[in-house]
Amino acid sequence: MEKVFDALVDAYLVDKVGISENFLSLALSKNLRENLVQLFKDKKLQKAKTGLGQEANINDRVRSDKIFWLDRTHENQHENAFFDIMDTFVLFLNQTCYTGITGYEFHYALYEKGSFYQKHFDQFRSNSSRQYTMIFYLNENWIPGDGGELCIYKDEVPENISPSNGKCIFFKSSELEHEVLLSHKPRMSITGWLRID
Ligand code: OGA
Ligand code: MN
Repeated sequence: MEKVFDALVDAYLVDKVGISENFLSLALSKNLRENLVQLFKDKKLQKAKTGLGQEANINDRVRSDKIFWLDRTHENQHENAFFDIMDTFVLFLNQTCYTGITGYEFHYALYEKGSFYQKHFDQFRSNSSRQYTMIFYLNENWIPGDGGELCIYKDEVPENISPSNGKCIFFKSSELEHEVLLSHKPRMSITGWLRID
């Protein structure tokens, strides 16, 4: 994995956004997608909130995705394989860039047809624990007309990134404002944050 990690971090250092086309293997991506589809069928996904702790609330005009937090206690082999990769990546990052990451959090996200997430920063104003954002897309055969692009603003200049299968996005949570454009079909991902607590 080290080459893949290196390429992702290099791209981040050059462009403020690291993009890796095949961070997750196709097999793991498929297994995680199947987990997410099953969670949806079992009605385990919850409307995502905005804000933190007591302040958190559902705001359909800001975001309309549904989420489920990954956790090692689920003892799901594919979630655990994902966490193993993240553990290795955090070690790599801390050793090569002295980032001092102490933990992470990741959730599955499903954007049903017609869903979006308006322009925002990922780091909360009241809590700066979230340091780096990572997003993993699980969508096979995504084409431009499907919408659902991640739009990232660098110095107000928008850049659209398609949520295609296996792709990983990496950027600093306090630095880049971004949004998820209207999706015209179900859009699946894992999103999370590397934290310092
Ligand atoms: C988020 C987010 C982007 C994406 O969940 O905070 O910005 O492309 N997601 O799913
Ligand atoms: Mn975000």
